[in-house]
Amino acid sequence: MKLRTVQEADLAGKLVLLRADFNVPLSQGKVADDFRIRAALPTIRWLLEKRARVAICSHLGRPKGKPVPELSLAPVARRLGELLGQQVPLLPDCIGPEVDRKLEELGERGLVLLENVRFHPGEEANDPEFARALAAPFDLYVNDAFGTAHRAHASTQGVTKHLPAYAGLLLAREVEVLSELTEAPRRPYYILVGGKKAKDKLGVLTDLLARVDGFLIGGGVSFTFLAAQGKQVGDSIVDEELLPTIKELLQRAADGGTAIHLPVDVVAARELGEVAEAKVFPAEAIPAGWMGLDIGPATRAAFAGVVANAGTVVWAGPMGAFEYPPFAEGTAALARALADSPAFTVVGGGETGEAVVRLGLEKRFSHLSTGGGATLAFLRGKPMPALEPLLAR
Ligand code: 3PG
Repeated sequence: MKLRTVQEADLAGKLVLLRADFNVPLSQGKVADDFRIRAALPTIRWLLEKRARVAICSHLGRPKGKPVPELSLAPVARRLGELLGQQVPLLPDCIGPEVDRKLEELGERGLVLLENVRFHPGEEANDPEFARALAAPFDLYVNDAFGTAHRAHASTQGVTKHLPAYAGLLLAREVEVLSELTEAPRRPYYILVGGKKAKDKLGVLTDLLARVDGFLIGGGVSFTFLAAQGKQVGDSIVDEELLPTIKELLQRAADGGTAIHLPVDVVAARELGEVAEAKVFPAEAIPAGWMGLDIGPATRAAFAGVVANAGTVVWAGPMGAFEYPPFAEGTAALARALADSPAFTVVGGGETGEAVVRLGLEKRFSHLSTGGGATLAFLRGKPMPALEPLLAR
């Protein structure tokens, strides 16, 4: 997949609508993780250097079509300003006469942030009138929001009907890397999955079964897999509904020769918390009253061994409840194993990216994607409606 990029656009003096994905975690009114904001800086700098006038739009959270003060982009404007070393004014809305007036006043190399596009119901509904209003003041549109590329919303897709549209540098890079993985991955190709939502990950595994050499399954999702194999998982979280589908998947993997690595031991506790008493149990014999919250030392070593000999590893989802120190070691050990591996290593955004950044290992991965859901959708070959209008013809 090849996209028309902002490097091809004539930008001097143009008023540019830049769609970024500034859907970042907040804590006490501040940006808790600025990875997505930093990832957007090269495109913002490019536009300003080329003397464009720039308004950035983004969503934040899921305010369901109405203004929610806690989901204002104000903390993002402040953090972006700090990173750029200049004030970034936040306009009170993303459409309307006041916004139009402020945009008219914007000089060359001027930069503003528009308020959360999801404060309007027309955004997620991809309403043509809202898209027209959003596009109206601008000469050109640049999409750098890879994390939202699987959504057909007004600011990711509708606006492209009204403006010449280009991919930003981040979006183009994400698509270049992930296209390589779908077209010609270095083998053996493994997906390392974790996290809590077994249902979401099951879809990923089903769609990728024929494309990869194996899966390493840790984190919360692994207990539903262990339960499907008839193992005693104690009070670990199991999604009973998925058991028949998982049994089928395990059979298909065995028939097709796709390796499935599951935990052989786990770190468990009676409850989740900072001070929990944590014990290691074999994965097939977790006692009643104990719940698995991280992969154990033997599993860490086994998974690390696979990763060390892989050609490509995509990692989506932490290996345990890593926000609590007693259950953080599995995620940290795999992060280190991937950092040391000669494989092409890709981290699929979200919590996993956060863990890698927290460990200070981000530079030792081949690619840290800014997309969570979008990365997996792309690798599964799902439609990417925001990319379609940007395809180079
Ligand atoms: C994400 O964080 O995955 C993207 O920003 C998309 O957010 P959404 O799932 O609310 O559409």
